[in-house]
Amino acid sequence: MRKITFTIKRFDGNKDWLQRYDLPYENGKTLLWALTKIREEQDPTLNFTSACRHAICGSCAIRVNGNSFLTCKTALDEILDTFKTDDLKCEPLGNFDVVRDLVIDWKPKLEKMKVVKPWIIPKESGSPTTGFKQSEQEFQKIASPTDCILCGICASECTQLAMNQEGYLEPFILNRAYRFAVDSRDGAPEEHIRPVLENDLWKCVHCMQCVSQCPKDINLSAEVAYLRQETMKMGETQNLGARHAYAFHDDVKNKGRLNEMTLPMKTEGVVKTAMKRVPFALRMISKGKINPLHMPKEVEGIAGVRKIYEYAKGVDQP
Ligand code: SF4
Ligand code: SF4
Ligand code: FES
Repeated sequence: MRKITFTIKRFDGNKDWLQRYDLPYENGKTLLWALTKIREEQDPTLNFTSACRHAICGSCAIRVNGNSFLTCKTALDEILDTFKTDDLKCEPLGNFDVVRDLVIDWKPKLEKMKVVKPWIIPKESGSPTTGFKQSEQEFQKIASPTDCILCGICASECTQLAMNQEGYLEPFILNRAYRFAVDSRDGAPEEHIRPVLENDLWKCVHCMQCVSQCPKDINLSAEVAYLRQETMKMGETQNLGARHAYAFHDDVKNKGRLNEMTLPMKTEGVVKTAMKRVPFALRMISKGKINPLHMPKEVEGIAGVRKIYEYAKGVDQP
């Protein structure tokens, strides 16, 4: 009989260990079904959380073979097929403190979230008695970010957060900042956006891990792009991230490609680049890897690139 092996990372509050459970394969089941079966039939001490079983409450996310999933929404067959194995290693979500076994601690994250003021700061045009009117178009701007169920998967997958837990905000916190900043009833978007800027907004590395694993298909990367753009509109243009964005934009618009010799100078300034990068650049030149006299020419089809820029200018922003 086909068996699926679950190797589960256990934690009792002091020490952790790996524990193995074998389960007879059944088709058409979910990951949550498997965990529940293990707890009911093999080990009542196994801790994990779940509630709605319909991808609504966000409480059942764990990591399986290094990727994060909602256990109630994820078919066991899909996981076995994805990883091409009957051995599954289950761990709690990454970038969270662990309470017991697969149960993570949300309290510090929810405290941290308060920095972006995840509530509406009402415009004067509304009142508790008259309320606010919102058009269909205005509602559409908040429809997707409001879908977030706080499952924590994006934080578990976030590459920047893994390196920078203190400085960076969890992607679902960025989503909350975005959700209230674009709400037509909110009168102070800057109060949601500025704390994001002050918490390493420009350090998102665009790995798209948060986007690819989000069970609600929220485009967190596009939200990061919007938040960055808004900080520039707020006049925050003299930081590394904004200067890099301008330099990148100008190179591509003018030539259709980057000039890797001048990009660091435009981003970090000539003096800093000289101090930080010249020794490395000299080594590259001596090995024939770069030619300091080479100035990139316009790409063939630069007219098309410029048309894309013109088109992008006219596209409606969220
Ligand atoms: S943004 Fe997506 S992955 Fe992140 S907590 Fe919300 S629903 Fe989960
Ligand atoms: S795209 Fe940015 S926010 Fe999303 S996982 Fe990567 S580093 Fe984190
Ligand atoms: S149990 Fe509620 S989202 Fe999975």
